[in-house]
Amino acid sequence: LAVHLVSFFFSKLQEDPTKKVDRFLHAMRLHDDQLVDISARFQAEMKKGLSAESSAAAAVKMLPTHVRSTPDGSEKGQFLALDLGGSKFKVLQVKVREGMGIRKGGVEMEEKVYPISKELLNGRAPELFDHVSESLKDFLHVKKISLEKKHPLAFTFSFPCEQTRLDKGLLLSWSKNCRARGLQGKDVVQALRDAIDRTGGMDIEVLAMVNDTVATMMTCGFDDQYCEVGVIIGTGTNACYMEELRHVDLVEGDEGRMCVNTEWGGFGDDGALNDFITEFDQDVDAASINPGKQIFEKMVSGLYLGELVRLVVLKMAKRGLLFDGCVSDALRTKGKITTAHVAAMEEYKTGLKNTRDILVELGLNPSEDDCIAVQHVSTIVSFRSSNLVAAGLAAILTRIKQNRHLRTLRITVGVDGTVYKTHPQYPKRLHKVVRRLLPECQVRFVLSDSGSSKGAALVTAVAQRLASRKQQ
Ligand code: GLC
Repeated sequence: LAVHLVSFFFSKLQEDPTKKVDRFLHAMRLHDDQLVDISARFQAEMKKGLSAESSAAAAVKMLPTHVRSTPDGSEKGQFLALDLGGSKFKVLQVKVREGMGIRKGGVEMEEKVYPISKELLNGRAPELFDHVSESLKDFLHVKKISLEKKHPLAFTFSFPCEQTRLDKGLLLSWSKNCRARGLQGKDVVQALRDAIDRTGGMDIEVLAMVNDTVATMMTCGFDDQYCEVGVIIGTGTNACYMEELRHVDLVEGDEGRMCVNTEWGGFGDDGALNDFITEFDQDVDAASINPGKQIFEKMVSGLYLGELVRLVVLKMAKRGLLFDGCVSDALRTKGKITTAHVAAMEEYKTGLKNTRDILVELGLNPSEDDCIAVQHVSTIVSFRSSNLVAAGLAAILTRIKQNRHLRTLRITVGVDGTVYKTHPQYPKRLHKVVRRLLPECQVRFVLSDSGSSKGAALVTAVAQRLASRKQQ
């Protein structure tokens, strides 16, 4: 009987389709001790990026943003804004009202999305910027905004830039799905001003350029004075936070704080994550427009999650672990599983049905067990993403706590990005792991909806407030 029971038990175990996925994806399932290890490595990278001796060669660039203060609610003004580098290019008009906070309608905005073709993203930078400035002109026309008046403009540009001022920044490299030629090493603000001149017929003053993480932090900071970290988990991923100025070697001065754009997407570019990288990560990297670059980003963000799932499912099918060993042309094709599919597969009630629909759409003939297995692949890939973000965030929060010699830290993290906003389980998982890794911190997460767009205007408003105070 005992033998029968044991064999019954094992056959039951073997029947569970998630088990074979767990075994197959063993390397993607990160435990807390591994996350603590990754977090410690990221802390070391942050130090490297901040110090004058090692910053030039650092994988995590830790870029000074010249944003010195989060909003205090007394900002006001009306701004045009551009948001380039996220999932959509947008032109906006943002009105900031004094002392009201965002939820009470203190920041009002109107926006229009302008599609950008692949050709423009992969073509010449001046043409990309001509499109940006022509879209701006169209926006002024559509919204009946006077062409006679001078308009202040804030620019969210979500790529790594070396900023020496709020309105000057050299593009260090492209990332994600953009690689327009002729801008690397050049001043992005100047490129925009030139394009606006070429378009003609508008009086625009470009006052500030900010990264989307900074914009997100500032938007959330307008309502919550504890918001000193901004995170994006979207097409790409990145984080910024308020660092003590005395630690920012590249900027003079020791008093107060400055927001640092970590560019954490580059974590691992120097091999620091090699022992966590799987064959699927290597394949995604090799097929990307920037092989060897943005290694952490490729394990985390929306541009790559679907592709990781596709590569795993393809390999499992080829090994005979799924679909009775059958594969389809669609399953062999890059980009056929997207992050939207990943989110749909993990939907609370309809996830399994969605998984079936997606697989059928890919020309496959899945059994019930195949659907359960593929859904589990999706869970492991997206869970790893939120785990890695949690490890990075834990490193930043620990650093802030140490900087301020605090035993406990109360802090708010502003988050934006399509993955965080649309994946049904992502936020909950991320919050839970961060709180588990940092039991001594009181962390509040705030979805900074459209933060990446609104925030540029807020940065400009804060800069104007600080400037007017200096003049007084
Ligand atoms: C990429 C960019 C970074 C941006 C992030 C999120 O990592 O390099 O600047 O913040 O994507 O959009």
